[in-house]
Amino acid sequence: DPTTGDGSAPSTSNPRPPPHTLSYPDVKQHNARQTPFQLPTQIASYSHDEHHAQRFDNSAMRYYVDPPLGARLDYGYDRWIRKPDERGRLDGLLNAIREVKKDATKAGAVPDNGVVSWRGIMTKILTAPYEERDGWDLNIMCVNGTLYFEEHLTDRRLQEKNDMAPRQRQQTYYGYAFESYCTSDAPARQQQPGVPSGWGGDVNTNVQWCSVVRTKLGDTRIVIGGEVDCVRGRYTGRTDTFVELKTSMAIRGQNDEARFEKKLLKFYFQSFLLGVPEIVVGFRTPSGVITTTQTFKTIEIPRQVRGKAGAWNPLICLEWGDKFLKTVKDVVQTTADSANASRNVWRATFVPGTGVTVRLLDQTEVDEVVNMEDRIGFLPRSYWSSETLGV
Ligand code: A3P
Ligand code: MG
Ligand code: MG
Repeated sequence: DPTTGDGSAPSTSNPRPPPHTLSYPDVKQHNARQTPFQLPTQIASYSHDEHHAQRFDNSAMRYYVDPPLGARLDYGYDRWIRKPDERGRLDGLLNAIREVKKDATKAGAVPDNGVVSWRGIMTKILTAPYEERDGWDLNIMCVNGTLYFEEHLTDRRLQEKNDMAPRQRQQTYYGYAFESYCTSDAPARQQQPGVPSGWGGDVNTNVQWCSVVRTKLGDTRIVIGGEVDCVRGRYTGRTDTFVELKTSMAIRGQNDEARFEKKLLKFYFQSFLLGVPEIVVGFRTPSGVITTTQTFKTIEIPRQVRGKAGAWNPLICLEWGDKFLKTVKDVVQTTADSANASRNVWRATFVPGTGVTVRLLDQTEVDEVVNMEDRIGFLPRSYWSSETLGV
């Protein structure tokens, strides 16, 4: 009886298959194929309040305003209310999906047999061909034909994130302070007394406004959730006025320029995947003073980097992403232990310069994923039950 399940993994009576390996694409190849990518359409939006409680409204949405040049990004650092780093659970996104499915007029918006994940994970997958430094691990489940991807963070990795070095923590804050200078509760900023010109309010990273979109890469439908920094002018209910905010060190020479062009790969896919058409980059000094801002149209970025020192080809990323998703589907189908298939957890491990392996986890590893929470694998038990039993 599946309802009495305790998150336990597949029976060990079947020998587990060997890991499947997907080797790295050659990023120097020039003949990447065109892999279709459907324009993302929004199916839901939601907010997290100052205590990180989830609300199915746009209360956390902000409007874009021009930041003042010379803005100091160290302002308010000691008042930063920090959202604790947690395991990369999908809970907020799954709650939003359930809300959509509850609404009879929108239920069809959530595709069957697709992939559900955060935008950050899809960005890591697609940019892997050009990633030389940081590997990643994903946990993967397949329930009722839908694949779920969460980032696998070990206790040690979580500890490292929460114990960030002071210097790095300061630099992370600069990004959020820039968001404060660039956003307002209303389409035009009202200057508050007693704060620097253009300051939009103290930083509380619990507060988030998120969009859930549906799209399609190759033959795979994907539901992606991600935080949206602000909208320009007005909110249309679509992604067409979304704005992504970024900070980067001011460019002083050719090496800096090439470094920035490489960084644009991540800026590009992060925004492209959610249908965000505009990226505003604030260039700063090492000590966090904004010197200039530059606006990029997301779709024009690939052409802007073509032929440059830090060039990249988005077609290689899309082709790789398509291959990755197909491989995962194949592996999950061929290694699914049918009686327990919806409780199985797979692990995809990416090693830069090598490629990805996908393997079925054993009981001890699944227990580590469950982490003594009320879950089946990494999915909340209530969500898993509603998907498998329709309750
Ligand atoms: P910058 O991107 O301007 O550095 P996002 O840009 O995705 O909206 O994220 C807002 C800010 O959160 C970032 O601003 C950065 O400060 C911080 N941030 C996001 N992802 C991070 C990561 N993986 N590690 C450290 N800081 C991160
Ligand atoms: Mg953001
Ligand atoms: Mg941003």
